[in-house]
This record gives sequence, structure tokens and C-alpha cells, in this order.
Amino acid sequence: MNQPGSTPAKDKEKTTKDYASYFQTTYQPPSLKDAKKRGKEQINIVKDFAVDEDLKKIGAGKKFYIRTYGCQMNEHDTEVMAGILSDMSYEATTDMKEADLILLNTCAIRENAENKVFGELGHLKPMKVENPDLLIGVCGCMSQEESVVNKLLKTYDQVDMIFGTHNIHRLPQIVKEAYFSKERVVEVWSKEGDIVENLPRVRKGNIQGWVNIMYGCDKFCTYCIVPYTRGKERSRRPEDIIEEVRHLARNGYQEVTLLGQNVNAYGKDFEDIEYGLGDLMDEIRKIDIPRVRFTTSHPRDFDDHLIEVLAKGGNLVEHIHLPVQHGNSDILKLMARKYTREHFLELAGKIKNAIPNASFTTDIIVGFPNETEEQFQDTLSLVKEVEFDAAYSFIYSPREGTPAAKMKDNVPHEVKKDRLQRLNAVLNEISLRKNQAYLDTVVEVLVEGESKKNPEVLSGHTASNKVVNFRGPKHLIGKIVKVHITDAKTWTLSGDLADEKAGVV
Ligand code: SAH
Ligand code: SF4
Ligand code: F3S
Repeated sequence: MNQPGSTPAKDKEKTTKDYASYFQTTYQPPSLKDAKKRGKEQINIVKDFAVDEDLKKIGAGKKFYIRTYGCQMNEHDTEVMAGILSDMSYEATTDMKEADLILLNTCAIRENAENKVFGELGHLKPMKVENPDLLIGVCGCMSQEESVVNKLLKTYDQVDMIFGTHNIHRLPQIVKEAYFSKERVVEVWSKEGDIVENLPRVRKGNIQGWVNIMYGCDKFCTYCIVPYTRGKERSRRPEDIIEEVRHLARNGYQEVTLLGQNVNAYGKDFEDIEYGLGDLMDEIRKIDIPRVRFTTSHPRDFDDHLIEVLAKGGNLVEHIHLPVQHGNSDILKLMARKYTREHFLELAGKIKNAIPNASFTTDIIVGFPNETEEQFQDTLSLVKEVEFDAAYSFIYSPREGTPAAKMKDNVPHEVKKDRLQRLNAVLNEISLRKNQAYLDTVVEVLVEGESKKNPEVLSGHTASNKVVNFRGPKHLIGKIVKVHITDAKTWTLSGDLADEKAGVV
């Protein structure tokens, strides 16, 4: 049986023609209620993705442009869509004005993220009027929301295609449909999600690569939209991940970042093997690639085995992004984070003991409904106690359909803004102090490219994830070099090549 908003289960057996009639007759908007369901659907691992013969040339002579909003997961989805479009003979462009196909890969995490997309669509309208053949698509997390799809259908007629996070692999059929039908194409699946293994990718650069280790999230933190937009937690098989990391290593990549919304839950959905993130990291440690990162961790599932493996060091970098969200246990409970302040402090202490040079970063929300000044002070005191190297801080933004959005809130926006400023002042003071500790030391930097501000300057990261700027020849891009730190600011370090001749290590 199809749930409303879902698509026929055996889509592989359907032809594009079948879909044409499906769109016109059975389209239903996405359903957050359906997206919330867990455990009813079988997760399929699909390995037979291929662009149909008749669609392989559909983009010949045409250009595409994808604008990406949101997290690394979206950035990586964009690489997949670029791969699929390339297989359809489209060419990438960095100039939106010369594109024949524009995709906005959207983020729904906070209201301002959504507003940016609606603003951009406003800018695109005149382009569409000027060039009616231009195809405009909205995909990513916003497309999974009923209210957004309804708004797009009602007021944004410049949009030709709307598709979600579960059916990126259907891009060829969706584009074809948009070219040949006069109707707008809306294909969003409100389901738990599958794993499609063999999608093509055009990666951004050849120095750092992203590797999904799992998809979705089952945590349902009460403020968060992600479990609804990304489906159920589902882990890729270790052998598929290891093969992808090996492939990147063979191709000269210097760094991989393993991706998931809650990577510490990796493997919990396997029914046949007992295998977790610690086991995976222990295997990836042996692959000949200089740096391995992972994001995002959830404090609740961060286990001792993982700490033990990370403490072995080697290519496993000493940077841990561990979002705490809040410093007060009552608020953490209302957020459904399922850990207390004490548990978080204990975990941070345990990691610091095992990995003494570890750098810590975090995410923090201020102004959760009814947060008192005292509760906010608990966030400040936790930040001072843990001494995060850096943090992303946000004002709580109600997301329609989430439990927190139904909570009455007595905190005025001005108070929330003031709390954010006070929090940032404390965070910045700590970041500066932490960075100053690097003065006059020599660090290893993976050179990622020219600095955005000054092309004369090269820029990269330390293993501990500090940005380092220094002057040096361009041929160092993609290498790991030693830099002597001479200046430390809140966000960046700068210095000189430690030994220009022997600089490459
Ligand atoms: N899976 C990651 C977070 C992904 S979203 C984790 O659990 O840590 C990135 C960050 O956005 C979150 O850590 C949280 O701090 C913030 N965030 C999520 N929903 C939000 C909301 N409704 N309002 C404000 N910030 C939010
Ligand atoms: Fe959102 Fe919580 Fe899942 Fe992170 S763990 S994606 S904050 S629901
Ligand atoms: Fe945004 Fe979706 Fe990522 S809501 S943060 S793009 S998972």
C-alpha cells in the first residue's frame, strides 16, 4: 500500500511513462506525519543506478548550476546531483546567468535558512521570464515539508521541479518530465528511505572528500526538523564505506570526512552484525590516507570503544565536534537530548583524558521556549568549563511539525538576541585564548587553496581543525606542510612556512 505522499514501492519496474500519469493523477504533498513513522518499511540497498540510454544526451550543449544551502550532507548530495547531471551530458557552470538548469538544494533547519531560499527564488523570477526554457528546481530538506511545497505551488510559479532528499536518484526522470510536460513536476517521498550505493559523483576538488556512513536520524530532538526531512537512521555497510575511502586514498585525497547526522548511532540498525563507529574507525585507521574526520557526534551514543580507537591517533584527527545544545539538564530533557549536563561533562572529561590534545567544537541553542536567565547561565558556565575551541550558536527557531513548536514561549526575541550576544562574547574569548596557545609552535597544515581574502596567501586546516593562513608557493596546495605560528586571532592562525625546502612532510 502506498502512503499518501509516497511513491509506488517498486519504482524500478515502472517506466517513465507510468510516472507521467502518476504525477498528473496521484500527486500528494509530502507528509510530515508519514515522515515521522519508523520501522514499518524495509530499507533497501540499491546498487543498480543507471541513467537510461534515452536520457544520456538530454543535457548535451546545456549547463547546470546548483546552489547549496545547509550542512555537509547537502553539500555532498550536490556532488551526487552534479554526477548524475554530468552523466546526462550537462556541463557545470559557476555563472548562474548562463545556466539552462538551476537547482536550489535547500536547508530547513531554521527559518532564516528557508527565507534565503525564498529570497533567491524571487531573484530567479526575472531570469525565468527572460528565458522560459530555463528549468528551475527546488530540492533538499525544504522540499520535504508540506508547508513549503504548498507555498511553492501557490506563489512561486517560476519553479518547474520540486523533489526531495529520498529520490535524488530519480533526477534524470524528473528533469525529463519537466522538459516534456507542461505541468510542474513534484516528486517528494515521505518515507523512511533507502540506500542507493552506486550513484555517480563529481566531487568538489581532489584534496578533501565526503563519505556518507549513514543517512537519516531517529533522535527526534524536539526542536529539530531533520528526522522528518531525512528519514530513518540507516547505515551503509562497512565494506561499501571502506571501499569508497580506499578509492579516495588511491586517487590522492588527503582527507576524508565521514558523514551522518548522528554518526555515533552507526551500525545500530544492522541486524546481522554487531558493528559500531569504533569498529569502523578502527578499520579506516589502517587505510593510507593522512586525515580522517567524522561529523556529527551525539553525546548520548559516544561509547568507550570509540574513545579507545580515537586515542590510537594516526590518521584519526584529534578534533571532536560534540554538540551540547544546552547547559541545563531540564532544558536538555525538554529538548529530548537524552543526556544531562553531568553526563556531557563526564564524557568531555573522559575524551580529554584519553586524547589530551583533542580540540572540541560544539553547537548551542539559546532561547529554547521558556528558557530562564538562570538556565541560560548554565549554558555559559558549561561553555567555560569545557572550553570549546569554537562553537556554532543559534537562536531557537520554531519548526512547524516539531514538538517544540507547540510549546508556549514566554521569552521575548530581544532577550534571546541579547543571550546570543553574551554567549558569543564568552565563546570568542575562549577561542582567542585557545588559539593564542598555538603561538610560536609548529603545526601541520593541509593546504586547501588560496585564502578567500587574499590570493597571495594560502589557507588550510590543522588536524585539530584550526584555520591557518600563510604565504607560500601554489604548488603546495593539496600537500601537508609545517607552519610556524606567528599570529593568533579568534577564528584564524597565521604564520610562515617552517622550512620552505623541507616544508612538505
Ligand atoms: N545532527 C546534528 C545537528 C544537525 S543540525 C546534531 O545532533 O548535533 C545543526 C545544528 O542546528 C544543531 O546542532 C542545532 O544546534 C541547530 N538547530 C537544529 N534545529 C534548530 C532549531 N529549530 N533552531 C535553532 N537551531 C537549531
Ligand atoms: Fe536533529 Fe537531534 Fe537528529 Fe541532530 S540528533 S539531526 S539535532 S534530531
Ligand atoms: Fe539543513 Fe537538511 Fe542539513 S535541514 S542542516 S540541509 S539535513
